[in-house]
Amino acid sequence: MGKVIIASNRLPLNIQITEDGLTVTPSVGGLATGLKPVHQQTGSVWIGWTGLPEDEVPPERQQQIDELLVSEQCGSVWMDHEEIERVYYGFSNETLWPLFHYFMEYVRFDPENWAAYKRVNERFADAIAEQAEPGDTIWIHDYQLLLVPALVRERVPDAAIGFFLHIPFPSFEVFRTLPWRSEILEGMLGADLIGFHTHNYTRHFLSSVRRLLGYDVQEHRVHLPRRIAHADSFPLGIDYQHFHQTAVQHAERTRREQSDIQKALDRFLAAREDLRLVLSIDRLDYTKGIANRLRAFERFLERYPQYVGNVSLIMLTVPSRSAVPQYQRMKSEVDELVGRINGEYASIDWHPVHYFYRSLPFDQLVDLYTTCDIALLTPIRDGMNLVAKEYIASRYNKRGVLILSEMAGAANEMSEALLINPNDADDIADALHEALTMPETEQIERNFILQDRLERYDIKKWSQDFRDSLKNVHAAQQRFLSRKLDPSELTELASAFGEAESRILFLDYDGTLVGFRSQPEKAAPDPELYAMLDQLAGMPNTRLVLISGRDKGSFDRWFGNKPYTLVCEHGVWTRPAGGEWQQADGLETDWKPAVRQVLELFTDRTPGSLIEEKDYGLAWHYRKADPELGTMRANELKDRLNFSLSGQNLEVLYGHKVVEVKNAGINKGRAGMRVLEDGKEAFVLAVGDDWTDETLFEALPDRAHTIKVGMQNSFAKANLESPAEVRAMLQALTGSTVEGTAFAGGA
Ligand code: UDP
Ligand code: G6P
Repeated sequence: MGKVIIASNRLPLNIQITEDGLTVTPSVGGLATGLKPVHQQTGSVWIGWTGLPEDEVPPERQQQIDELLVSEQCGSVWMDHEEIERVYYGFSNETLWPLFHYFMEYVRFDPENWAAYKRVNERFADAIAEQAEPGDTIWIHDYQLLLVPALVRERVPDAAIGFFLHIPFPSFEVFRTLPWRSEILEGMLGADLIGFHTHNYTRHFLSSVRRLLGYDVQEHRVHLPRRIAHADSFPLGIDYQHFHQTAVQHAERTRREQSDIQKALDRFLAAREDLRLVLSIDRLDYTKGIANRLRAFERFLERYPQYVGNVSLIMLTVPSRSAVPQYQRMKSEVDELVGRINGEYASIDWHPVHYFYRSLPFDQLVDLYTTCDIALLTPIRDGMNLVAKEYIASRYNKRGVLILSEMAGAANEMSEALLINPNDADDIADALHEALTMPETEQIERNFILQDRLERYDIKKWSQDFRDSLKNVHAAQQRFLSRKLDPSELTELASAFGEAESRILFLDYDGTLVGFRSQPEKAAPDPELYAMLDQLAGMPNTRLVLISGRDKGSFDRWFGNKPYTLVCEHGVWTRPAGGEWQQADGLETDWKPAVRQVLELFTDRTPGSLIEEKDYGLAWHYRKADPELGTMRANELKDRLNFSLSGQNLEVLYGHKVVEVKNAGINKGRAGMRVLEDGKEAFVLAVGDDWTDETLFEALPDRAHTIKVGMQNSFAKANLESPAEVRAMLQALTGSTVEGTAFAGGA
């Protein structure tokens, strides 16, 4: 089994150059703390930025740092001073971070920052490709590296690549404002599996993919031209046992063994027996709602004056991204608010807010978690919020109350917490009151459920779950690629075709010979296609059958004078080469007015959709409608038609962005077999892209060669990726060489 290569902007350790040499400290933030156990357990390699400007570190120091990182199972990516400004502070933290957290007013769109972001993402991809060996799993993380999955795919096409986004994915209406939105989505889609913390983020991502890139999205699958990518939610967990056991051990320590912070907290509490502590811990970030929290705490003291002198907020804010102007402004705002509240309410022996602007080591964090009665976490937007989970995990005696913003991803899994709206100061003040008066039995009940959930889906389970899913998705891709007609099979097919005494070719039209168009009338055959079809139809003992769901009018216009057999409306109409149109038996049309009425209603309510009238069928097309609305309406229409058509001899077909009602028993399989019976050719080939072609693949005799265009499962024996590959394959049958054509073959 291969190794895991983790890649993220931030390494799990921070390096500082001091007079004595190099100092190493652990990194702060959900990503680094969350993935650290994965890194330790799997013996993986972690590739990331050193945190230092390349142009300000002498080469011999750089070498020393690189060596130190290698000894810690890490690999370095360097950025110079300007790249740090443009990529880390600039595009990552002044464009993507605010945009993805819905802070539109803070977003800067700077093309030069974007260009630098692309360059640095390329550098990451190079570093990953350099480490990658067959069988490895590559796991790329977060918004600083959105282009890396596709860039790695270019360099290592067969690799199993996973991507995980640790922040929210915004709704389409917000994401669409980004000038480089399509490149970003294509970058992420380079991964086999794309993970998010919540179902909503996944849904937003898939919606943007569908609307901006036009790819077909089914459930969690994105149908790309060459592959299927999956997107799903995997809520990041914590190292539950580590927090819980540390909390238990700390409770058993003697006073001498305690940390300074614990001693100070105990002294403080001993002096004021009735004092209750409320805790908040976060990076100093505008997404964390720190100012809102302070205002709400002030409101709480106003509304519930009985707590003045009895409740203190311990607020640990960790310095973060302090070169970004919004972070600087926020620091001043928070400093001012703390000053104002303390100035107004403090007494000699009591402060409403104890404010720390620094980070603390793990043991001391646990001391804060175990000592404070309430955790108050009020992000305005937060991908997950691990602090909420860590607080609950550390409550070894199951007492304590978590107040959590409903805008944090963690709120989805923590409904037993008191959930608040971070913009509603009254709501927060009331929640504080509720927490302070909550009976212990209720606290225990709630925390019991919360702890059980966190213990089960911990960081190990999360990472295993993601990697198992990635393995499955990747294996499915490989299975598909092994079904793909490769150059040697193409040569065999061409010789079987050449050696056969008689041959018949069934070719679907849209999506098989020509690409799928949003305006069907624009999909007319081009001169190259005519030339190739003429060449095939002109070969001795060869019948060329174009078999389609289209109305016979278009085919008459395009191929009326051609020596091909034409099958239209899925088999309602057949025209042998040189003959007249013939109609299938037992067809009725008296059902059409009632069904048309239903379809008209759906057309009126779905802008961009239209009804196509066929001789014996009615089709509702939604390829030009909003993709999400179209899919939703198609499902509604399905239910509606099932209800209104029951008992009639009709059938509903669900093709590619079309719902079609037609007489029962009409399908390409039956029509194709009728045509085949006329000649009983030795060599049979059928090619088609959508599921209406499946009836043909299924019906044809075993000797038939059947090819599905696209990545979906099929009754066909082999797959090709695109109409361009189909054309190259047909060209090969005529005896022309495939070299220099679109036929890629193999993987
Ligand atoms: N953290 C830390 N030292 C500190 C304060 C916090 O290591 O002084 C850790 C904390 O334990 C948590 C992470 O930083 O694991 C913060 O993650 P969270 O998901 O809450 O927020 P993010 O920083 O990722 O936005
Ligand atoms: C969040 C992000 C991480 C980031 C961390 C700390 O957790 O999702 O990608 O590493 O914050 O931020 P920083 O800018 O210091 O890396």
